[in-house]
Amino acid sequence: MRAHEAGALHGDIGHHGPAWLRPPEDINALLDQLWPATARRDADGVLNVGGIDVRTLAQEYGTPAYVLDEDDFRARCRAYRDAFSDASGGGADVFYAGKAFLCKAIVKIIAEEGLRLDVCTGGELAVALAAGFDPAKIGLHGNNKSLPELTRAVRAGVGRIVVDSHDEIDRLAGLADELGVRPKVMVRVTVGVEAHTHEYIATAHEDQKFGFSLANGPGSGPGSGPGAGGAAAEAVRRILTGVGKDRLELLGLHSHIGSQIFDTSAFEVSARRVLGLHAQISEEYGVELPELDLGGGFGVAYTTQDDPLPPSDISRQLAKIVEHECGAFDLELPRLSIEPGRALVAPSVFTLYEVGTVKDIALDAGATRRYISVDGGMSDNIRTALYDASYSATLASRASEAPPALARIVGKHCESGDIVVKDEFLPADLVVGDLVAVPGTGAYCRSMASNYNHVPRPPVVAVRNGEARVIVRRETEADLLRLDVG
Ligand SMILES: Cc1ncc(COP(=O)(O)O)c(C=O)c1O
Repeated sequence: MRAHEAGALHGDIGHHGPAWLRPPEDINALLDQLWPATARRDADGVLNVGGIDVRTLAQEYGTPAYVLDEDDFRARCRAYRDAFSDASGGGADVFYAGKAFLCKAIVKIIAEEGLRLDVCTGGELAVALAAGFDPAKIGLHGNNKSLPELTRAVRAGVGRIVVDSHDEIDRLAGLADELGVRPKVMVRVTVGVEAHTHEYIATAHEDQKFGFSLANGPGSGPGSGPGAGGAAAEAVRRILTGVGKDRLELLGLHSHIGSQIFDTSAFEVSARRVLGLHAQISEEYGVELPELDLGGGFGVAYTTQDDPLPPSDISRQLAKIVEHECGAFDLELPRLSIEPGRALVAPSVFTLYEVGTVKDIALDAGATRRYISVDGGMSDNIRTALYDASYSATLASRASEAPPALARIVGKHCESGDIVVKDEFLPADLVVGDLVAVPGTGAYCRSMASNYNHVPRPPVVAVRNGEARVIVRRETEADLLRLDVG
């Protein structure tokens, strides 16, 4: 959606809500697919998670706050790890995509649950190393990794660097000489598959900044040229027989085709294409690459319309696709890796807000829209404004017998596009001082949070077995002023 200059939804005057949104039968119900596993309403009707009442959390830690159900997050990590290692004949690694949300506590949890970690900047690498994560289990991504970032990663001994350009291959070859090491690399292949939700498009070319295209063509930089496998094959050639020869160790090919994917058909097309190059490499160079990375993108539920596949189904289907393609090319099964971020952490977190104002705005034809303003907004969840994302919400500090009323939850920022939840049915008796909770905010909310309007970023509070601990503290005005040197 193209944003209106005055804010993303400035010109939108529809007031019926989207077609999929239905008044709930029970306004107090917490749907399993939307809420972390330990979330429930206690005897008073108050939302309780990890054994703690949200009114207690609000009192102790303030609002807004991101609340992480630690047991739920750990269970999701284990479910993906076990599902992929059970299904994949060649073995499998699950890399948590740190971009979704990264802090030291998260790094420690994923280490304890046997996951690996993807980072894509020097900053994310610094957090991983500060938390004591084994560098050999880290993958480094990014389309423009600087020489200092690469140097630090190679010095630290990261397990893989996913190369994204010819410039980077040159930089890494230079570093190999300088540091006397042989970095392990994967080649990021853009396979011509763009997938989001249930739809995907498969094309011959990719017009985007990431990776090396499989399509024949001019390639993505000096030294690349036309030929079967396109720019990606040329990158492989330069690593195996060109500047990277004896300097870089090629582990395998990597592809990532999008986010919020709810079925595996797009992975089928992408795996077929990437394994085609894998087979070509085996034929041309006599090298069977030991690994294959199919990226992330497994969907999560933000609203009742989303119905994600369980990890066991995803792993079984992906493993079958890889086995089928390897069988067709008579190849050994490579070790598989996947990189979910959102699917691991988004459902484990909700954001707790306090209602500050309730306003009914008269629209055309006698209709009204209820605007519920909360004490956060686009600075703690930019996804609604940025991606037109949909979210759900519930009244958290009490249950209600009131009928459902269609409402829009907005933030406190100076932007009419500052919307957290575009359309949701909330109890008609919701008032100032009530707490509302928005589920599914564990991914790309705190990690994309800003200080817009100099609003301090909320804390992340992990709850488990009746105990809460702050894993990222709330920013203060002193934090905001710290960088302002006058
Ligand atoms: C290379 C790569 N891997 C993994 C991910 C994680 O995707 P998601 O959080 O949607 O699973 C992304 C996200 O864009 C990505 O670019």
